[in-house]
Amino acid sequence: MTSSELINLSLEQVAEALGDPTAAVFARMYERYPALKHFRGEDSSWENYMMQEILSNILQYADEPETALVTIKDMTTHHQLIGVPLDVFKGMYSTLLDVLKPTFQGEQQAAMAAAWQQAIDAIHRVVDQQSAF
Ligand code: HEM
Repeated sequence: MTSSELINLSLEQVAEALGDPTAAVFARMYERYPALKHFRGEDSSWENYMMQEILSNILQYADEPETALVTIKDMTTHHQLIGVPLDVFKGMYSTLLDVLKPTFQGEQQAAMAAAWQQAIDAIHRVVDQQSAF
């Protein structure tokens, strides 16, 4: 299976097991990163919007890694400017995988986890490069 197929399959399994993972991911983010509470408001629609952007960027990474990483580079700077600490920005990805991974199952379980980890490692490297500026 290609990494694109693996990421797609994993997201189908997530949808079956959890439905929309947004609330579970953000619940864990607020626990782990008290600094994020600054962004927490009555209106949580931005959380859904972020999750869509993050997942579509991961799907794009599986097909066209270079293009997806350019978006990450831009978004790292953008989020720094709006006050999201970089450890929180990076932590979003580890937290996402912590929530999603337990739902991966079947023959491709290890391959799906490896595809996600590979994407996250590459994204974290780009964020670290930006943080040097
Ligand atoms: C926990 C970390 C994050 C927080 C608190 C956060 C917060 C926000 C907020 C409040 C906005 C709207 C305000 C604005 O654009 O000025 C925004 C926009 C956006 N975020 Fe995030 N975000 C996070 C992580 C991410 C990640 C990891 C991505 C990766 C794809 C991402 C992608 C985007 C995109 C594409 C926009 C729209 C930017 C634009 O309009 O030019 N966000 N984010």
